[in-house]
Amino acid sequence: MKGIILAGGEGTRLHPLTTAVSKQLLPVYDKPMVYYPLSVLMLAGIREILLISTPRDLPLFRLMLGDGSRLGLSLSYVEQARPGGLAEAFLLGADHVGDDSSALILGDNIFHGQAFSQLLRAHSRDVDGCVLFGYPVSDPERYGIAETDPAGNLLSIEEKPRAPKANQAITGLYFYDNEVLEIARRLKPSARGELEITDLNRVYLDRGRARLVKLGRGFAWLDTGTHSSLLQAAQYIQTLEERQGVRIACLEEIALRMGFIDARACLAEGEKLAKTEYGRYVMQVALDHEAGSLTTAHPVAF
Ligand code: DAU
Repeated sequence: MKGIILAGGEGTRLHPLTTAVSKQLLPVYDKPMVYYPLSVLMLAGIREILLISTPRDLPLFRLMLGDGSRLGLSLSYVEQARPGGLAEAFLLGADHVGDDSSALILGDNIFHGQAFSQLLRAHSRDVDGCVLFGYPVSDPERYGIAETDPAGNLLSIEEKPRAPKANQAITGLYFYDNEVLEIARRLKPSARGELEITDLNRVYLDRGRARLVKLGRGFAWLDTGTHSSLLQAAQYIQTLEERQGVRIACLEEIALRMGFIDARACLAEGEKLAKTEYGRYVMQVALDHEAGSLTTAHPVAF
């Protein structure tokens, strides 16, 4: 499975924070926002990842993440000249996807929850059709909304409905089989002139090939769309990290735990940041791993 992170857009709702800098590079407590969605793809076991952003911001992502080899990843980059819609990711990323299945994640989506990695791996295996992830929200008119029958089968998908039929938001994480490339190619732009992900998902729904996986109340899907929700997301991360003594979306730790890099490489990454608590944490994770005590010292479900 190939991964795509869509990290473009104008971020106008966060001006003046985003007047000169990409929203997805803003800090969420101790790391840049894009670390969180990147960590989700890594936890799903995906190592070949394309990052799409604006011509203005792409060089900064490249500067920050490079070719990914230090994390055992292969990262590539493509510009999106203007915000042409989320489904445009599959036109821009067609070569990257090739004949594989794919996972698209929006660069401003933050997920956190017990055993998320197992759930991701279970649903990314042998994707047939598309897999959407639902999350209950109190303001459904702000999202793509999924309506299901009592058995959990998808009935309808609507983008930002004025009169929502349900409160299950469709989150910004999508798994597709290879047909997505052909469906995206045939998609017509919406009235806004964008290739809408909801229109693409509706094609799968009409073919009876869309599934919804509901993320329960034990999950956090955090909003970063307003100044206030951005601060709340940072506080959520800070609260959990300080309480538990573990870091959320620490890419070096995940690369180590997933077997993408070994403890020596992880330690070297930590040493580069040794002046920071983040770097010292990475070093400790590597040392604990080497000593075989990682699972007892850091009891996080992976
Ligand atoms: O976050 C989940 C929601 O994301 C879904 O529930 C909706 O169905 C989906 O349409 C989308 O809604 P948003 O209102 O969040 O879409 P927005 O246009 O704000 O774009 C989401 C992110 O993707 C944002 O960080 C900017 C980036 N983006 C957006 C567009 C339109 C791009 O990188 N390129 C684009 O062309």
